[in-house]
Amino acid sequence: MGKSEFGVIGLGVMGKSLGLNIAEKGFKISVYNRSDGNEAHVVSEFLENNPSFKNISGFTNIQEFVASLERPRKLLMMVKAGAVVDAVIDQLLPYLSKNDILIDGGNSHFKDTQNRFESLKRQHIQLIGCGISGGEAGARTGPSLMPGGTMESYQLVAPILEAIAAKDVNGQPCCTFIGNDGSGHFIKMIHNGMEYAEMQLLAELYGLMSPTMSNQEIAELFSEWNKGDLSSYLLEITIEILLKKENGVYLLDRILDKADNKGTGSWSSKTALDLGVPTTMMTSAVFARYLSSFKAARAQLSKQIQVQKPKDKPLDLKMLEQAYRFARIVNHHQGFDIMDQASNTYKWNLNLSEIARIWTNGCILRSQFMMDCVGYLKASKDLISHQHLFEGLQNVESSIAEILQLAISNRMPLDTVWSAYNYWVSMTTKRLPANLIQAQRDYFGAHTYQRIDAPLSDFFHTNWSQS
Ligand code: 6PG
Repeated sequence: MGKSEFGVIGLGVMGKSLGLNIAEKGFKISVYNRSDGNEAHVVSEFLENNPSFKNISGFTNIQEFVASLERPRKLLMMVKAGAVVDAVIDQLLPYLSKNDILIDGGNSHFKDTQNRFESLKRQHIQLIGCGISGGEAGARTGPSLMPGGTMESYQLVAPILEAIAAKDVNGQPCCTFIGNDGSGHFIKMIHNGMEYAEMQLLAELYGLMSPTMSNQEIAELFSEWNKGDLSSYLLEITIEILLKKENGVYLLDRILDKADNKGTGSWSSKTALDLGVPTTMMTSAVFARYLSSFKAARAQLSKQIQVQKPKDKPLDLKMLEQAYRFARIVNHHQGFDIMDQASNTYKWNLNLSEIARIWTNGCILRSQFMMDCVGYLKASKDLISHQHLFEGLQNVESSIAEILQLAISNRMPLDTVWSAYNYWVSMTTKRLPANLIQAQRDYFGAHTYQRIDAPLSDFFHTNWSQS
Protein backbone atom coordinates (compact mmCIF):
# COMPACT_ATOMS: atom_id res chain seq x y z
CA MET A 1 0.00 0.00 0.00
CA GLY A 2 1.33 3.45 -0.90
CA LYS A 3 1.45 6.32 1.53
CA SER A 4 -1.64 8.36 2.40
CA GLU A 5 -2.12 11.86 1.02
CA PHE A 6 -3.77 13.26 4.16
CA GLY A 7 -4.11 12.48 7.87
CA VAL A 8 -6.96 13.14 10.30
CA ILE A 9 -6.30 13.18 14.03
CA GLY A 10 -9.30 12.82 16.35
CA LEU A 11 -12.37 10.80 15.41
CA GLY A 12 -14.99 12.80 17.27
CA VAL A 13 -18.18 13.79 15.44
CA MET A 14 -16.44 16.41 13.26
CA GLY A 15 -13.26 14.38 12.65
CA LYS A 16 -15.21 11.33 11.48
CA SER A 17 -17.44 13.37 9.18
CA LEU A 18 -14.53 15.30 7.63
CA GLY A 19 -12.55 12.06 7.24
CA LEU A 20 -15.40 10.45 5.32
CA ASN A 21 -15.91 13.58 3.23
CA ILE A 22 -12.21 13.59 2.24
CA ALA A 23 -12.15 9.86 1.53
CA GLU A 24 -15.32 10.15 -0.54
CA LYS A 25 -13.56 12.70 -2.78
CA GLY A 26 -11.05 9.96 -3.63
CA PHE A 27 -8.09 10.97 -1.44
CA LYS A 28 -6.18 8.25 0.32
CA ILE A 29 -6.20 9.06 4.03
CA SER A 30 -4.92 7.86 7.39
CA VAL A 31 -6.90 8.42 10.56
CA TYR A 32 -5.66 8.40 14.13
CA ASN A 33 -7.38 8.39 17.49
CA ARG A 34 -5.95 7.70 20.93
CA SER A 35 -6.89 4.28 22.31
CA ASP A 36 -6.77 4.76 26.07
CA GLY A 37 -9.77 4.52 28.42
CA ASN A 38 -13.14 4.50 26.70
CA GLU A 39 -11.56 5.46 23.35
CA ALA A 40 -10.12 1.95 22.92
CA HIS A 41 -12.31 0.96 19.96
CA VAL A 42 -12.86 4.33 18.24
CA VAL A 43 -10.60 3.63 15.26
CA SER A 44 -11.62 0.00 14.75
CA GLU A 45 -15.32 0.89 15.00
CA PHE A 46 -14.90 3.74 12.53
CA LEU A 47 -13.31 1.38 9.99
CA GLU A 48 -15.92 -1.34 10.63
CA ASN A 49 -18.79 1.12 10.23
CA ASN A 50 -17.43 2.37 6.90
CA PRO A 51 -16.36 -0.78 5.06
CA SER A 52 -16.92 0.68 1.59
CA PHE A 53 -14.02 3.14 2.05
CA LYS A 54 -10.94 1.16 1.01
CA ASN A 55 -8.84 4.34 0.96
CA ILE A 56 -8.86 4.85 4.75
CA SER A 57 -6.14 3.38 7.00
CA GLY A 58 -6.64 3.50 10.76
CA PHE A 59 -3.98 3.94 13.46
CA THR A 60 -3.78 4.09 17.25
CA ASN A 61 0.00 4.53 17.27
CA ILE A 62 0.92 8.12 16.46
CA GLN A 63 4.40 7.29 15.12
CA GLU A 64 3.01 4.71 12.68
CA PHE A 65 0.24 7.14 11.72
CA VAL A 66 2.74 9.90 10.87
CA ALA A 67 4.96 7.43 9.01
CA SER A 68 1.99 6.40 6.84
CA LEU A 69 1.75 9.89 5.28
CA GLU A 70 3.51 11.11 2.15
CA ARG A 71 5.78 14.16 2.54
CA PRO A 72 5.37 17.01 3.10
CA ARG A 73 2.80 15.56 5.48
CA LYS A 74 -0.62 17.15 5.70
CA LEU A 75 -2.43 16.50 8.95
CA LEU A 76 -5.77 17.80 10.16
CA MET A 77 -6.21 17.96 13.94
CA MET A 78 -9.86 17.72 15.01
CA VAL A 79 -9.42 17.86 18.76
CA LYS A 80 -10.82 20.01 21.56
CA ALA A 81 -9.58 23.59 21.50
CA GLY A 82 -7.17 24.63 24.23
CA ALA A 83 -4.58 22.50 26.02
CA VAL A 84 -5.44 19.36 24.00
CA VAL A 85 -4.22 21.03 20.80
CA ASP A 86 -0.85 21.77 22.42
CA ALA A 87 -0.65 18.23 23.80
CA VAL A 88 -1.32 16.71 20.36
CA ILE A 89 1.26 19.01 18.74
CA ASP A 90 3.82 17.92 21.37
CA GLN A 91 3.08 14.25 20.64
CA LEU A 92 3.44 14.79 16.90
CA LEU A 93 6.55 16.96 16.82
CA PRO A 94 9.17 14.22 17.35
CA TYR A 95 7.91 12.45 14.21
CA LEU A 96 7.32 15.42 11.91
CA SER A 97 9.80 16.67 9.30
CA LYS A 98 10.66 20.06 7.83
CA ASN A 99 7.77 21.68 5.88
CA ASP A 100 5.08 19.31 7.15
CA ILE A 101 1.70 21.03 7.45
CA LEU A 102 -0.50 20.85 10.53
CA ILE A 103 -4.10 22.05 10.18
CA ASP A 104 -6.00 22.90 13.36
CA GLY A 105 -9.68 22.52 12.43
CA GLY A 106 -11.08 23.17 15.92
CA ASN A 107 -12.50 26.39 17.32
CA SER A 108 -9.12 27.52 18.71
CA HIS A 109 -8.71 31.06 19.99
CA PHE A 110 -6.98 33.08 17.26
CA LYS A 111 -4.31 34.31 19.69
CA ASP A 112 -3.41 30.70 20.56
CA THR A 113 -3.15 30.04 16.84
CA GLN A 114 -0.90 33.09 16.38
CA ASN A 115 1.42 31.82 19.12
CA ARG A 116 1.44 28.25 17.82
CA PHE A 117 2.01 29.49 14.27
CA GLU A 118 5.14 31.39 15.33
CA SER A 119 6.50 28.63 17.54
CA LEU A 120 5.95 25.94 14.87
CA LYS A 121 7.49 28.18 12.21
CA ARG A 122 10.69 28.23 14.25
CA GLN A 123 10.62 24.42 14.04
CA HIS A 124 9.96 24.55 10.26
CA ILE A 125 6.41 23.20 10.62
CA GLN A 126 3.60 25.08 8.90
CA LEU A 127 0.41 25.65 10.92
CA ILE A 128 -2.89 26.38 9.24
CA GLY A 129 -5.60 27.55 11.63
CA CYS A 130 -8.76 26.57 9.81
CA GLY A 131 -12.21 27.71 10.92
CA ILE A 132 -14.78 25.09 9.98
CA SER A 133 -18.50 25.79 10.01
CA GLY A 134 -21.53 23.70 9.23
CA GLY A 135 -21.76 21.26 12.11
CA GLU A 136 -21.76 17.49 11.62
CA ALA A 137 -23.85 17.50 8.43
CA GLY A 138 -21.74 20.27 6.88
CA ALA A 139 -18.50 18.47 7.73
CA ARG A 140 -19.77 15.32 6.01
CA THR A 141 -21.26 16.89 2.88
CA GLY A 142 -19.65 20.32 2.48
CA PRO A 143 -18.55 22.76 5.19
CA SER A 144 -17.43 26.36 4.86
CA LEU A 145 -13.67 26.41 5.44
CA MET A 146 -11.65 29.41 6.66
CA PRO A 147 -7.93 28.55 6.50
CA GLY A 148 -5.28 31.01 7.70
CA GLY A 149 -1.51 30.54 7.79
CA THR A 150 0.77 31.09 4.80
CA MET A 151 -0.30 31.10 1.16
CA GLU A 152 2.47 28.58 0.37
CA SER A 153 1.17 26.00 2.83
CA TYR A 154 -2.44 26.72 1.83
CA GLN A 155 -1.63 25.98 -1.80
CA LEU A 156 -0.37 22.52 -0.83
CA VAL A 157 -3.62 21.58 0.94
CA ALA A 158 -5.98 23.58 -1.28
CA PRO A 159 -6.85 20.66 -3.62
CA ILE A 160 -8.16 18.66 -0.65
CA LEU A 161 -9.84 21.52 1.26
CA GLU A 162 -11.50 22.91 -1.85
CA ALA A 163 -12.71 19.44 -2.88
CA ILE A 164 -14.53 18.85 0.41
CA ALA A 165 -15.92 22.39 0.89
CA ALA A 166 -19.49 23.44 0.09
CA LYS A 167 -19.91 25.19 -3.26
CA ASP A 168 -21.31 28.69 -3.82
CA VAL A 169 -23.97 29.57 -6.44
CA ASN A 170 -21.28 29.69 -9.12
CA GLY A 171 -19.89 26.28 -8.17
CA GLN A 172 -16.81 27.79 -6.50
CA PRO A 173 -15.62 26.21 -3.22
CA CYS A 174 -16.64 27.91 0.03
CA CYS A 175 -12.99 27.87 1.03
CA THR A 176 -10.40 30.55 0.45
CA PHE A 177 -7.04 31.56 1.89
CA ILE A 178 -8.00 34.06 4.61
CA GLY A 179 -4.66 35.55 5.61
CA ASN A 180 -1.66 35.16 7.87
CA ASP A 181 -1.31 33.25 11.18
CA GLY A 182 -4.54 33.27 13.27
CA SER A 183 -6.80 35.04 10.75
CA GLY A 184 -8.82 31.92 9.84
CA HIS A 185 -9.67 31.24 13.46
CA PHE A 186 -10.42 34.94 14.00
CA ILE A 187 -12.92 34.88 11.14
CA LYS A 188 -14.57 31.74 12.52
CA MET A 189 -14.80 33.36 15.97
CA ILE A 190 -16.59 36.38 14.48
CA HIS A 191 -18.80 34.06 12.43
CA ASN A 192 -19.90 32.54 15.72
CA GLY A 193 -20.42 35.95 17.35
CA MET A 194 -22.67 36.93 14.45
CA GLU A 195 -24.36 33.53 14.74
CA TYR A 196 -25.15 34.26 18.42
CA ALA A 197 -26.79 37.57 17.42
CA GLU A 198 -28.80 36.01 14.56
CA MET A 199 -30.03 33.24 16.87
CA GLN A 200 -30.90 35.64 19.69
CA LEU A 201 -32.74 37.91 17.27
CA LEU A 202 -34.97 35.04 16.15
CA ALA A 203 -35.50 34.03 19.79
CA GLU A 204 -36.56 37.60 20.66
CA LEU A 205 -39.07 37.72 17.81
CA TYR A 206 -40.42 34.32 18.82
CA GLY A 207 -40.70 35.62 22.42
CA LEU A 208 -42.61 38.66 21.22
CA MET A 209 -45.05 36.64 19.15
CA SER A 210 -45.58 33.55 21.30
CA PRO A 211 -48.06 35.07 23.81
CA THR A 212 -50.53 35.81 21.02
CA MET A 213 -49.57 33.40 18.23
CA SER A 214 -49.25 29.60 18.10
CA ASN A 215 -46.01 27.90 17.11
CA GLN A 216 -47.76 26.95 13.87
CA GLU A 217 -48.64 30.60 13.13
CA ILE A 218 -45.11 31.78 13.92
CA ALA A 219 -43.70 29.05 11.67
CA GLU A 220 -46.06 30.13 8.87
CA LEU A 221 -44.90 33.74 9.19
CA PHE A 222 -41.23 32.69 9.21
CA SER A 223 -41.90 30.51 6.16
CA GLU A 224 -43.23 33.57 4.32
CA TRP A 225 -40.11 35.54 5.28
CA ASN A 226 -37.96 32.61 4.21
CA LYS A 227 -39.19 32.92 0.62
CA GLY A 228 -37.52 36.27 -0.02
CA ASP A 229 -34.52 38.42 0.89
CA LEU A 230 -34.68 37.32 4.55
CA SER A 231 -34.19 33.63 3.80
CA SER A 232 -31.46 31.91 5.77
CA TYR A 233 -30.37 28.57 7.18
CA LEU A 234 -31.14 29.74 10.73
CA LEU A 235 -34.66 30.82 9.75
CA GLU A 236 -35.15 27.49 7.97
CA ILE A 237 -34.15 25.40 11.01
CA THR A 238 -36.19 27.64 13.31
CA ILE A 239 -39.32 26.85 11.27
CA GLU A 240 -38.61 23.13 11.63
CA ILE A 241 -37.95 23.52 15.36
CA LEU A 242 -41.23 25.42 15.86
CA LEU A 243 -43.22 22.64 14.17
CA LYS A 244 -41.51 19.64 15.77
CA LYS A 245 -43.88 17.61 17.95
CA GLU A 246 -43.17 14.89 20.48
CA ASN A 247 -46.15 12.76 21.51
CA GLY A 248 -48.46 15.34 19.95
CA VAL A 249 -46.95 18.25 21.91
CA TYR A 250 -44.60 20.93 20.59
CA LEU A 251 -41.11 19.93 21.73
CA LEU A 252 -39.97 23.56 21.88
CA ASP A 253 -42.54 24.28 24.60
CA ARG A 254 -40.91 21.62 26.77
CA ILE A 255 -37.33 22.88 26.48
CA LEU A 256 -35.86 24.62 29.53
CA ASP A 257 -35.19 28.31 28.82
CA LYS A 258 -31.48 28.32 29.77
CA ALA A 259 -29.13 28.99 26.84
CA ASP A 260 -25.68 27.43 27.00
CA ASN A 261 -22.52 28.34 25.11
CA LYS A 262 -19.03 27.05 24.41
CA GLY A 263 -17.29 30.42 24.59
CA THR A 264 -16.71 31.72 21.06
CA GLY A 265 -19.36 34.45 21.48
CA SER A 266 -17.66 35.69 24.61
CA TRP A 267 -14.26 35.60 22.85
CA SER A 268 -15.72 37.72 20.03
CA SER A 269 -17.09 40.21 22.54
CA LYS A 270 -13.84 40.44 24.50
CA THR A 271 -11.95 40.92 21.24
CA ALA A 272 -14.37 43.67 20.20
CA LEU A 273 -13.65 45.46 23.48
CA ASP A 274 -9.90 45.05 22.91
CA LEU A 275 -10.09 46.34 19.33
CA GLY A 276 -12.49 49.17 20.24
CA VAL A 277 -15.21 48.05 17.82
CA PRO A 278 -18.84 48.36 19.01
CA THR A 279 -20.18 44.95 17.97
CA THR A 280 -23.09 45.55 20.32
CA MET A 281 -25.42 42.89 18.92
CA MET A 282 -23.20 39.87 19.43
CA THR A 283 -22.25 41.13 22.88
CA SER A 284 -25.92 41.62 23.82
CA ALA A 285 -26.61 38.11 22.56
CA VAL A 286 -23.90 36.68 24.81
CA PHE A 287 -25.28 38.54 27.83
CA ALA A 288 -28.82 37.45 26.94
CA ARG A 289 -27.63 33.83 27.09
CA TYR A 290 -25.95 34.49 30.45
CA LEU A 291 -29.12 36.17 31.78
CA SER A 292 -31.23 33.20 30.71
CA SER A 293 -28.97 30.89 32.69
CA PHE A 294 -30.08 32.47 35.99
CA LYS A 295 -33.29 30.47 35.79
CA ALA A 296 -33.78 29.89 39.52
CA ALA A 297 -33.23 33.57 40.40
CA ARG A 298 -35.53 34.66 37.58
CA ALA A 299 -38.24 32.31 38.73
CA GLN A 300 -37.93 33.60 42.30
CA LEU A 301 -37.91 37.31 41.41
CA SER A 302 -40.74 36.90 38.93
CA LYS A 303 -43.04 35.97 41.83
CA GLN A 304 -42.53 39.43 43.33
CA ILE A 305 -43.31 41.37 40.19
CA GLN A 306 -46.64 43.11 39.86
CA VAL A 307 -47.40 42.82 36.17
CA GLN A 308 -49.53 45.61 34.73
CA LYS A 309 -52.01 44.47 32.13
CA PRO A 310 -50.35 45.30 28.81
CA LYS A 311 -52.00 47.81 26.52
CA ASP A 312 -54.01 45.88 23.98
CA LYS A 313 -52.06 46.87 20.91
CA PRO A 314 -51.80 44.18 18.22
CA LEU A 315 -48.41 43.15 16.95
CA ASP A 316 -47.89 44.55 13.47
CA LEU A 317 -46.26 41.66 11.62
CA LYS A 318 -45.12 43.85 8.74
CA MET A 319 -43.27 46.09 11.20
CA LEU A 320 -41.80 43.02 12.86
CA GLU A 321 -40.44 41.86 9.52
CA GLN A 322 -38.91 45.29 8.95
CA ALA A 323 -37.36 45.27 12.41
CA TYR A 324 -35.86 41.83 11.70
CA ARG A 325 -34.38 43.05 8.41
CA PHE A 326 -33.06 46.19 10.12
CA ALA A 327 -31.35 44.26 12.92
CA ARG A 328 -29.80 41.74 10.53
CA ILE A 329 -28.23 44.50 8.48
CA VAL A 330 -26.75 46.04 11.63
CA ASN A 331 -25.43 42.65 12.81
CA HIS A 332 -23.71 41.97 9.50
CA HIS A 333 -22.34 45.51 9.42
CA GLN A 334 -20.88 45.11 12.90
CA GLY A 335 -19.39 41.68 12.11
CA PHE A 336 -17.62 42.85 8.97
CA ASP A 337 -16.58 46.04 10.74
CA ILE A 338 -14.65 44.14 13.41
CA MET A 339 -13.00 41.99 10.73
CA ASP A 340 -11.90 45.13 8.94
CA GLN A 341 -10.45 46.57 12.15
CA ALA A 342 -8.66 43.30 12.95
CA SER A 343 -7.31 43.21 9.40
CA ASN A 344 -5.69 46.61 9.96
CA THR A 345 -4.45 45.76 13.45
CA TYR A 346 -2.94 42.39 12.55
CA LYS A 347 -2.02 43.27 8.93
CA TRP A 348 -4.06 40.39 7.51
CA ASN A 349 -5.26 42.19 4.38
CA LEU A 350 -8.66 40.48 4.64
CA ASN A 351 -10.91 40.37 1.59
CA LEU A 352 -14.33 40.92 3.19
CA SER A 353 -16.30 40.22 0.03
CA GLU A 354 -14.51 36.89 -0.38
CA ILE A 355 -15.22 36.04 3.27
CA ALA A 356 -18.91 36.76 2.67
CA ARG A 357 -18.71 34.53 -0.43
CA ILE A 358 -17.37 31.51 1.49
CA TRP A 359 -20.18 32.08 4.01
CA THR A 360 -22.90 31.82 1.36
CA ASN A 361 -23.01 28.06 1.72
CA GLY A 362 -21.94 25.35 4.14
CA CYS A 363 -21.89 27.53 7.24
CA ILE A 364 -24.49 28.40 9.87
CA LEU A 365 -24.66 32.05 8.70
CA ARG A 366 -25.55 31.21 5.10
CA SER A 367 -28.40 33.34 3.86
CA GLN A 368 -29.70 35.38 0.97
CA PHE A 369 -28.41 38.51 2.71
CA MET A 370 -24.91 37.01 2.94
CA MET A 371 -25.07 36.52 -0.84
CA ASP A 372 -26.07 40.18 -1.20
CA CYS A 373 -23.15 41.17 1.08
CA VAL A 374 -20.67 39.68 -1.43
CA GLY A 375 -21.58 42.52 -3.81
CA TYR A 376 -22.02 45.23 -1.17
CA LEU A 377 -18.59 44.51 0.30
CA LYS A 378 -16.96 44.77 -3.11
CA ALA A 379 -18.22 48.36 -3.28
CA SER A 380 -17.45 49.34 0.34
CA LYS A 381 -16.21 47.68 3.52
CA ASP A 382 -18.68 49.81 5.47
CA LEU A 383 -22.00 48.02 4.91
CA ILE A 384 -24.31 50.67 6.39
CA SER A 385 -22.81 53.41 4.27
CA HIS A 386 -23.96 51.53 1.15
CA GLN A 387 -26.79 53.72 -0.16
CA HIS A 388 -29.32 50.91 -0.57
CA LEU A 389 -28.73 49.56 2.95
CA PHE A 390 -28.59 53.03 4.51
CA GLU A 391 -31.93 53.95 2.97
CA GLY A 392 -33.33 50.57 4.01
CA LEU A 393 -32.38 51.23 7.62
CA GLN A 394 -33.62 54.80 7.55
CA ASN A 395 -36.97 53.87 6.00
CA VAL A 396 -37.86 51.34 8.70
CA GLU A 397 -36.49 53.20 11.72
CA SER A 398 -40.03 54.04 12.85
CA SER A 399 -41.03 50.37 12.62
CA ILE A 400 -38.23 49.25 14.88
CA ALA A 401 -39.17 52.01 17.35
CA GLU A 402 -42.79 50.75 17.33
CA ILE A 403 -41.68 47.19 18.01
CA LEU A 404 -39.50 48.38 20.90
CA GLN A 405 -42.39 50.36 22.39
CA LEU A 406 -44.65 47.33 22.17
CA ALA A 407 -41.98 45.22 23.89
CA ILE A 408 -41.74 47.80 26.71
CA SER A 409 -45.49 47.86 27.28
CA ASN A 410 -45.49 44.05 27.40
CA ARG A 411 -42.36 43.79 29.63
CA MET A 412 -40.37 41.86 27.06
CA PRO A 413 -36.61 42.00 26.73
CA LEU A 414 -35.36 42.59 23.19
CA ASP A 415 -31.62 42.74 23.83
CA THR A 416 -30.33 42.51 20.27
CA VAL A 417 -33.12 44.58 18.69
CA TRP A 418 -32.36 47.40 21.16
CA SER A 419 -28.66 47.08 20.44
CA ALA A 420 -29.28 47.39 16.71
CA TYR A 421 -31.51 50.42 17.21
CA ASN A 422 -29.11 52.19 19.61
CA TYR A 423 -26.18 51.52 17.34
CA TRP A 424 -27.98 52.96 14.33
CA VAL A 425 -29.25 56.02 16.19
CA SER A 426 -25.83 56.73 17.72
CA MET A 427 -24.00 56.24 14.44
CA THR A 428 -26.33 58.66 12.67
CA THR A 429 -26.33 61.35 15.39
CA LYS A 430 -23.92 64.22 14.98
CA ARG A 431 -23.72 65.29 18.61
CA LEU A 432 -23.88 62.71 21.41
CA PRO A 433 -23.77 63.57 25.13
CA ALA A 434 -20.18 62.33 25.33
CA ASN A 435 -19.13 65.94 26.03
CA LEU A 436 -20.41 65.39 29.58
CA ILE A 437 -18.32 62.21 29.95
CA GLN A 438 -15.22 64.13 28.90
CA ALA A 439 -16.00 66.91 31.39
CA GLN A 440 -16.50 64.37 34.20
CA ARG A 441 -13.23 62.61 33.30
CA ASP A 442 -11.44 65.94 33.34
CA TYR A 443 -13.11 66.93 36.63
CA PHE A 444 -11.95 63.96 38.68
CA GLY A 445 -8.91 62.79 36.74
CA ALA A 446 -7.57 65.76 34.77
CA HIS A 447 -7.87 63.59 31.64
CA THR A 448 -8.34 66.69 29.42
CA TYR A 449 -10.88 67.30 26.66
CA GLN A 450 -11.03 68.71 23.14
CA ARG A 451 -13.26 71.67 22.22
CA ILE A 452 -15.61 72.31 19.33
CA ASP A 453 -14.29 75.88 19.14
CA ALA A 454 -10.58 74.99 19.01
CA PRO A 455 -8.32 72.82 16.80
CA LEU A 456 -8.66 69.09 17.55
CA SER A 457 -4.93 68.92 18.15
CA ASP A 458 -5.40 71.03 21.32
CA PHE A 459 -6.31 69.41 24.66
CA PHE A 460 -7.70 71.41 27.58
CA HIS A 461 -7.92 71.00 31.32
CA THR A 462 -10.18 73.01 33.62
CA ASN A 463 -10.09 73.36 37.37
CA TRP A 464 -13.82 72.56 37.63
CA SER A 465 -14.37 73.09 41.37
CA GLN A 466 -12.79 76.56 41.39
CA SER A 467 -15.36 79.33 40.93
C1 6PG B 1 -20.57 26.24 13.24
C2 6PG B 1 -20.97 26.42 14.68
C3 6PG B 1 -20.20 25.50 15.57
C4 6PG B 1 -20.82 25.29 16.92
C5 6PG B 1 -20.71 26.47 17.82
C6 6PG B 1 -21.75 26.45 18.90
O1 6PG B 1 -20.20 27.23 12.66
O2 6PG B 1 -20.63 25.12 12.75
O3 6PG B 1 -20.77 27.74 15.07
O4 6PG B 1 -18.89 25.96 15.62
O5 6PG B 1 -22.14 24.86 16.79
O6 6PG B 1 -19.44 26.41 18.40
O7 6PG B 1 -21.37 27.39 19.81
P1 6PG B 1 -22.06 27.54 21.20
O8 6PG B 1 -22.06 26.18 21.86
O9 6PG B 1 -21.20 28.52 21.94
O10 6PG B 1 -23.45 28.01 20.94
